[in-house]
Amino acid sequence: MSEQKRIPQHVAIIMDGNGRWAELRGKERYEGHAAGVEPVRASLRAAARQGVKYLTLYAFSTENWGRPEKEVDALMELFCQSVVNETPELIRQGVRVRMIGERSRFSEKVRSYLAQVEQRTAAGETLTLILALNYSSRSEIVRAVRRIASRSAAGELDPESIDERTVCAALDTAEYPDPDLIVRTSGECRLSNFLLWQASYAELYFPDVLWPDFTEAEFDRAIEEYARRDRRFGLVK
Ligand code: IPE
Ligand code: IPE
Ligand code: MG
Repeated sequence: MSEQKRIPQHVAIIMDGNGRWAELRGKERYEGHAAGVEPVRASLRAAARQGVKYLTLYAFSTENWGRPEKEVDALMELFCQSVVNETPELIRQGVRVRMIGERSRFSEKVRSYLAQVEQRTAAGETLTLILALNYSSRSEIVRAVRRIASRSAAGELDPESIDERTVCAALDTAEYPDPDLIVRTSGECRLSNFLLWQASYAELYFPDVLWPDFTEAEFDRAIEEYARRDRRFGLVK
């Protein structure tokens, strides 16, 4: 490893443990989600300070629609409130907000709030914040396959020419590099349908801390852990 500290270009976080955090305090699950906003701010500060260029946050999976209606409604309200409240600070920090996942399932209100934060932060150059909302990797891959198949059926694409780049370009993440480091909080060691294609050579890190307790120092620890890893990409040294 070089003397210089290695910084991942793209960090992706599965923000897990809000419900357990709330339960431990005798609170409602949605209070755990509300307590999960400050760690998002802390992660953005730490990522910008460390020189990370892309931060992807898994905020709502396609499977999460199956949760009680009250919790889902509270999460939708929290997304709307947070993007409005945080937009001035995001602009100040030079954060460009983007989204992956399927928006069509969201209400018009949620879609318009998301479109606004994307528009208002479009000039940000410090860091790209990618929100995974109504996201699952399998549904993303299915949508990509459909795009490729329809181009092929239209005679625009020779099936023999399809390669990894064709697939990458058809995914929601087409514009972004693969994640170098995937962090999942709360001690669960699984990906839960997150960036399965893109995670091929990502380093995985599973701290025990529940998401509402995640701090800048925790983010720094993840970067330190990453710097110790030996990435071989199937090769020998
Ligand atoms: C993650 O926290 C946030 C979302 C899935 C939206 P959880 O709500 O999954 O918290 P736990 O896993 O139940 O503790
Ligand atoms: C993954 O967490 C989704 C998000 C963090 C948004 P879940 O809590 O939904 O995943 P499982 O159910 O533990 O696998
Ligand atoms: Mg969970």
